[in-house]
Order: sequence, then C-alpha cells, then structure tokens
Amino acid sequence: MPAEPIFRLPTRHLLGIEGLAPPHVDAILDLSETYVETSRRAEKKASGLRGRTVINLFFENSTRTRTSFELAGKRLGGDVINMSVEASSVKKGETLIDTALTLTAMNPDVLIVRHPDSGAVKLLSEKVRASVINAGDGQHEHPTQALLDALTIRRRKGRLSGLVVAICGDILHSRVARSNILLLQVMGAVVRVVAPTTLLPAGIERWGVEVFHDMRRGLDGADIVMMLRLQRERMDGGYVPSPREFFHFYGLDRDKLARAKPDALIMHPGPMNRGVEIDSIVADDLDRSVIQEQVEMGVAVRMAVLDLLTRNLQGNEPPGGVPAGSGR
Ligand code: CP
Repeated sequence: MPAEPIFRLPTRHLLGIEGLAPPHVDAILDLSETYVETSRRAEKKASGLRGRTVINLFFENSTRTRTSFELAGKRLGGDVINMSVEASSVKKGETLIDTALTLTAMNPDVLIVRHPDSGAVKLLSEKVRASVINAGDGQHEHPTQALLDALTIRRRKGRLSGLVVAICGDILHSRVARSNILLLQVMGAVVRVVAPTTLLPAGIERWGVEVFHDMRRGLDGADIVMMLRLQRERMDGGYVPSPREFFHFYGLDRDKLARAKPDALIMHPGPMNRGVEIDSIVADDLDRSVIQEQVEMGVAVRMAVLDLLTRNLQGNEPPGGVPAGSGR
C-alpha cells in the first residue's frame, strides 16, 4: 500500500486564521490530540523539531502563550531561546525589523512573535528566512489561541459545527475574539458577540455574527460562553463607566449563566480579571469551566503548529523564495 502523504500547511508562516480552510484546521486539531497524549506521559519528548532552533520574541507581556510555546518547542526536541525584549538592544532604539534581521543572521528556523501593533508580525515575516508564528499582534489576530479554544471545544462537545458560541466583553480590543470568530465561522459554528456598543468594532454587523447588547439575551441557549478581559492597556478613554458597573451588566455570574444551556462550557483565554468580567464562582466551577483545560490544550496545539510548519522548511530559503503571508 502506498504511504499516506505527509500533511503540510499551505504556507510557511502562521499569521492568522484567515487563510486556513476546514481541512487545515482539522489536521492541526487531529495532530494536537496526539500531542495531548504525549504531554500527559511521564516521558514527554517527541522528536519533530530535533536540530531546529526556535526563538520567542515577545514585545508584550505573556504568561500562557510564551511558556506554552517554550514547552512545545522543548517537548519536540528543539532548541528554544526566549529573547527578553526588556534586556535587548530594542531598548537602545533598534527597530523591529533590524532586531528580526539580526536574529535571522543566527539561522533560527522559527520566530514566534508577539507585538502591540496590528500587522507588525506580517511585516516581519516578509523580511526573514524563518517561519513566523503570530503570537498576538495588536487587535488583529492570535491564531494559536483560537486553535486551542477549538480543540478544547471539540474534545468536550465532539464537534464545532452547529454550536452556538457567545463571545462576551471587550470585543473591540480583542485579537482573541477576531481569530475565534474567523475560526468558529469557517468550522460552521454560530457566533454571537455580547458587549456594550463602546466595546464593539465599527461594522461588526458585517462580520457575520449575531450582535447582542444584553448579556442574558446573548447567552440564551448558548453552548459555549467565552468571556474576554477588558483590555485597559489598549484603552485611551472611558469605554466603560466603572469595573463595578461593567460587572453588573456584563460580568458572568451564576444568574446570567443560567440563561445558557445547562451543559454550556465556560471559557476564558486569560488572564482573568475576577469580579470584572467573570465571577470566581463560575470561573472555578469544575463542572462547567474549562479555563485550565484551555491552557493544557495550548501546549498541544503549539506543538502541532510547530511540527506542521517546520515540515515546510527544507533548508532556510532566502526571503521571497517561499510565499510569505497566509493566502488560501
Ligand atoms: N491568552 C493569552 O494570550 O495569554 P497570555 O497573554 O498570558 O499569553
């Protein structure tokens, strides 16, 4: 029997969910399942990244994404370097592109980049030889977060298609919301957004989502309740009257959750602000909350993404040798 062809992602980089079709998402999630098993063993090592070098380049703070990419790279047998931007020559005025070119000269295979500006990671991907993974760029995208959320949902519910997912809170500033909306829609879920008008992007009605300003109505019959943090670091004015008032209208508590399906899952990408967008009683409800499971799935999904992207690397071709970006 002929050997099954090795699955490859359509591009060298993962810059966003935009550009991924259902077979790509399914393949990433299927491979992630294997790495969930690997990560639960006492011996957690695989070999897909042996000999490869991965650099974590984070221009914004992170606990989950940076640590899980580091663990993912190490569990696959790669060499992983965490570059501390605070202790780097960025602080002496070196630009993003010069920093990236400097790192590229050391021949890494993968650059994992988080940056406060939307589009910065794509710009960088056009200048370097390595595969680039977007670990969150401004308000644009956070593709591995959406993939790990999808894996968490699929494992619990057995599917994505047909589920009603309510994404609640600060949609305006959230790259997590944007990536999740793209992924969930492409996989056939019904997506609702629930927020005050001040926390919704202009033109949201054109995103193909159902828009709610009332939390109870937005949660009515939902299968998944995904809460988002108020991103104060991206706010330059008064988007909400006060955290207390925001919690009263939009914070997830038992009373509002009662409107969702009895088996609805509670999700949050973290970091959480307890008492602002979510009450501890529901965040810590082990029957309903899958917040810690999301973190676990993050390592497995990032292992799968690193594995799949590095299958596309032969040697390190010069810039322009392989199409950059995430075209379909
Ligand atoms: N969800 C997420 O991106 O968390 P971190 O900011 O801790 O990486």
